[in-house]
Amino acid sequence: MEIVITTRAESACLAADAIERLIRRRPDAVLGLATGSSPLGVYDELARRHAENGLSFRQAHAFLLDEYIGLPEDHAERYRNVIERELVSRIDLPKDRVHGLDGNSEDLESSCARYEEAIAEAGGVDLQILGVGTDGHLAFNEPGSSLASRTRVTTLSRQTQEDNAGFFGADPDAVPRRVMTQGLGTIMAARHLVVLAHGLAKAQAVHQMAEGPVGALWPATILQHHPHVTVLVDEGAASRLQLASYYRETWRDRLTAPTSPQVGEVDRATVVGGVTHATLCRPPSSLDKPAPRTWLRDG
Ligand code: GLP
Repeated sequence: MEIVITTRAESACLAADAIERLIRRRPDAVLGLATGSSPLGVYDELARRHAENGLSFRQAHAFLLDEYIGLPEDHAERYRNVIERELVSRIDLPKDRVHGLDGNSEDLESSCARYEEAIAEAGGVDLQILGVGTDGHLAFNEPGSSLASRTRVTTLSRQTQEDNAGFFGADPDAVPRRVMTQGLGTIMAARHLVVLAHGLAKAQAVHQMAEGPVGALWPATILQHHPHVTVLVDEGAASRLQLASYYRETWRDRLTAPTSPQVGEVDRATVVGGVTHATLCRPPSSLDKPAPRTWLRDG
C-alpha cells in the first residue's frame, strides 16, 4: 500500500492527478466512482480542471459502487443523483456512460448480475475511488461480508445508518437498510484503488485497513491483498497508524529524492511538524505543460 499522510486539499489534488494522468493516457478509461463526503474534494478538483484546463471525460466510462434500495428516482440521496450533482453535471462525461445499480429494479438479483457483466464488458475498472466507513466497510460491504463477494443485495449495519443519518435529516431510521453494492471481490478486480479518509472518526478503520489482520470484521483489510492501493489520509485519519513515521519518511523521500522523476515537478515542498507538504495543484497555466507529474505510481 502506498500511504500518504497529507492535508485534505492535497489528497484531493493527488487523487485528481492520478485520474488526470489516466484520462490523458487512455481517454476511454473506466473510472470507479464513490459517493459519501470523502471524494467530494476530488470531484471539485476534476470539475475545476475540466473548466479551466479542458480536461475531458468525453470518452471515459464510469461505474458507481453502491446504491440504496427503494429511494424515489428523484431523491437527492439516491447515489445516481448524488454523483450527477457532485461530478457528472460539472464535467463532459456523457450520462449514458455513467452506470449505477438500479435500486428500484423489479429483479434486484438479476440487476446485480448484469452489473457485474457490464463492468467486465467495459474491460474492468482502471481506477476506483473509495471511501471507508467508520466500521471498516468498503462501498456497502459491512463487517461480516465475504472477502470474495460480488455485486449483491445486502443490509446496512446500524453504525452505517447512524453515520449516514446526516444525509437523511439526522434520522438513522430514514436511511434505507437494504442496499446494493459491488462486492469486495468486484472492487479488488479494479486495477488501481485510491482510498480517501479524513478525520479522527476514520482513524481506527484506517489503522485496521492498512495494518490490521485481514478478516471479515474489518472488510477494508482485504485491500492488503491488492497490488496497487493508494491511501490518502489526513492527520486525524492517520492518528492510529502504527507505522505513520515510516509512511511519512517514504513519502518525503518520494518528494525529495534526486533521482525521482517527480522532483522536477515539485512546485514547492515544505516540512511542517515532520510532515512534508507540497504544493500539489499546479496553477492552471502550468497544467498544459508536457511531462505530467507522477506523484503516485500509475496503474
Ligand atoms: C458510505 C458509502 C461508501 C462511502 C463510505 C464513507 O456509506 N456507501 O461508499 O465510501 O460510506 O462515507 P464518507 O465518505 O461520507 O465518510
